[in-house]
Amino acid sequence: MSDLSSSLSKRGDGLASAVNVAPHAFIVQSVHSAMDARVCDEGKPEVRRRHWGRGMPAAGVFLAALLDANPALSQDYFFDVAGGGVFVGYGLGSGGGSVTWGVEAYTSRSDDVDGCSSQERTAWGPLARFTLQGLSRPLFSLGAHVGKETERAVLGLNLEGGITLGFPRGLEADAVLSPFSAVGADIVVVDLYTRHYWLLDTYPIGLSFRPIPTYGFAGSCVEGRPQRDDAGCRSATIGAPQRRTHSHAERLASDFADAACEEYESVPALLRLVTELAFVGAPRSLIERARRAVDDELRHTSICTALARRAGWRGFTPPVPVAVQRNPLSGRAGVERLALESWLDGCLGEGLAAALAADDAALARDPGLATARAVIAEDEQRHAELAWDILQWCHEQHPSVGELLRTVRDAPVTVPARRTGELRRREGIAQRHRMDCRRRLAALL
Ligand SMILES: [Fe+2]
Ligand SMILES: [Fe+2]
Repeated sequence: MSDLSSSLSKRGDGLASAVNVAPHAFIVQSVHSAMDARVCDEGKPEVRRRHWGRGMPAAGVFLAALLDANPALSQDYFFDVAGGGVFVGYGLGSGGGSVTWGVEAYTSRSDDVDGCSSQERTAWGPLARFTLQGLSRPLFSLGAHVGKETERAVLGLNLEGGITLGFPRGLEADAVLSPFSAVGADIVVVDLYTRHYWLLDTYPIGLSFRPIPTYGFAGSCVEGRPQRDDAGCRSATIGAPQRRTHSHAERLASDFADAACEEYESVPALLRLVTELAFVGAPRSLIERARRAVDDELRHTSICTALARRAGWRGFTPPVPVAVQRNPLSGRAGVERLALESWLDGCLGEGLAAALAADDAALARDPGLATARAVIAEDEQRHAELAWDILQWCHEQHPSVGELLRTVRDAPVTVPARRTGELRRREGIAQRHRMDCRRRLAALL
């Protein structure tokens, strides 16, 4: 309790030190080795294209290219995930009797377009698979999969169906065209399967390793401003603290711990904003407001850490975030990136953080918690207003900013995953906030 009181009482005098959160010299490290979680979404064409190109095995790229042949013509990608896997199993049945192995590629369309919701996902899409039975009996399969997670990013069940061209006696013998079906259980990146090639009389069972999960990665959502890399992808360098939670109190403590990590992550993000504002010659007043926001985020980290400890996680201390390295851009490119990220992370992101915190404050029966959330709500709203002012300044510098923002005005707004609280209520707040922001953006442009 004293930690929280101390954090709150230091409001306005810079850095809260009650729980030893200090303005560390953040370690600069390559994003490719530093990130624990990332998500690249918001329907931004150049972002999605780079994401696909970097993270996907060649087979997945090939399949995606076939299915979504000209992404430059579309800002809305039909498939959210594209990946590939290798598998091994054993073929039962009179047409089996040997080890089966091969490679597969798949794309998935998910009902969670931003990879950021806390709910289980449904996904479907096409797949292609090359299988060898033994060393000389190939199967070429094309089909589709559909499935649903039962635990987000951990367990999902899926069904497959399609057609297979098989050579049950080797390539020199006649081919057989057969329908196939399959049932699989996706456990993180492993798919346990049983397949049925109806006219080949073989029923392989086995497992497939899928580095890019069928449903996509869990994503990372933060309460506040995330870090982004050169490609514009969000990168969370602090993984959510792992702890078994059995009781409501433990889940609550873990939620506050998650919030503390997200607040801490905002510090390097805002430090970068200060630098990048200066790099494009933004007015001093905007730079100074961004610098003050860094202090706010450190105080939020202290407050959330104190709340986690008060809720029972006595030894909790948030790990120090790693500053994701990226190059500042000058001129029009820098102004456009600034505008884009101010919209996504400030107007939408920090604005939502403010709305959620204000809602928590209004609902809280505990006066200490109500005060803490009200403090954060007020600060986050100020950060969101800073983002709107940056947006306006960027728009005044380059008319192209308006065109760019029109392409992302429908970006989704999602609530950070939490173990407690009413998700439906929080998502309702997010949707109202999104509509308000869209109206305000339309007026500004
Ligand atoms: Fe914050
Ligand atoms: Fe903020």
